[in-house]
Amino acid sequence: MLHNFGSGPAKLHKSVYDQLAQSLIDYEQTGLSILEVYHRTTLFEAILEEATQLCKELYQLDASKEVLFMPNGATWHFNLIAQNFIHTKAAYIHSGNWSKKAYDIALEYGKADIVASSENNHFKSIPVIEQDLSAYDYLHITSNNTDVGTQFHSYPNGSIPLIADMSSDIFSKPIDSNAFACIYAGAQKNIGIAGASLVIIDKDFLSKTHKHIPNYYQYNQWVNNKSIMNTPPIFAIYAMLVNMRWMKAMGGLEHMHIQAKEKAKLLYHTLDNSHLFEVYARKEDRSLMNVCFSMKETSLHNSFMHFAKEAGIIQIEGYRTVGGFRVSLYNAIELASVQHLCDVIAAFDHIPR
Ligand SMILES: Cc1ncc(COP(=O)(O)O)c(C=O)c1O
Repeated sequence: MLHNFGSGPAKLHKSVYDQLAQSLIDYEQTGLSILEVYHRTTLFEAILEEATQLCKELYQLDASKEVLFMPNGATWHFNLIAQNFIHTKAAYIHSGNWSKKAYDIALEYGKADIVASSENNHFKSIPVIEQDLSAYDYLHITSNNTDVGTQFHSYPNGSIPLIADMSSDIFSKPIDSNAFACIYAGAQKNIGIAGASLVIIDKDFLSKTHKHIPNYYQYNQWVNNKSIMNTPPIFAIYAMLVNMRWMKAMGGLEHMHIQAKEKAKLLYHTLDNSHLFEVYARKEDRSLMNVCFSMKETSLHNSFMHFAKEAGIIQIEGYRTVGGFRVSLYNAIELASVQHLCDVIAAFDHIPR
């Protein structure tokens, strides 16, 4: 049996795959494959409508929020956010590789500053803001740093609009959605498959969109056109819907959070109690979604990778600029798989050398 701990595209639950597979052959007994469903039909309208409602239900969104199902991944939103919302200048928290990418892209559209950074401790912690942000248009954070394994466990609450790239911890816990002007995420980790993204955006904030940018890049236009600006990634959006149905059936985000805490606790405990392994992030800021660690003796890296692979554990290579190992614990990862990994870590730790 394979235990895939990849960071994304990531594993979804088997029942989700079963439904997706069936939809490819015959979508809801229409005689059509989901791949040939035309987007301007009641069939696709129903998919979008249910997906929107489920997102609102899972996150308990009120009427102040719009939900968009858009093509492309999070990187596109690095562009759109800056393009739509930088008027004077934007503030970015630098907590890892992805926050830096978002910041660098923002500079292509306007002025932006890094207002807090944990670069000087190699992103082992979540930076804290110590300056007044009132001159900025928005504050951008990466809620979970997929590359280094840190996560915001509480969010900055200032007076300016807060925007979060939640690509790697979306739908992993309940949040107060009113704390955010905009949340966006690529779908391929915790929502569905690659090729689509989810955006939750505040209606008041939307009114701040630049009007001089092309229609296709304006979030407003995506709202006005109910997420259909051109042929959408129908299968990817349907995958999000099926996965959200699964999350709801499992007990919603409270349940996902309980599970995430249990899985992460087990793995961090095993690593902290081992002789050979060490966790990358400092304790207070450790991610419940991506556990990054390395061997104290780097010469043992390949040997553990091989040992793990023999036990069916795959896709645990660390992010390319960080190295070591990374285990992603998204919603569909079973506790039993984490237990198996912990047993393998403990067994490797006890091999006489
Ligand atoms: C936190 C975060 N943001 C953005 C991205 C980039 O996402 P995409 O490939 O969907 O553009 C990733 C990819 O892993 C990520 O982890």
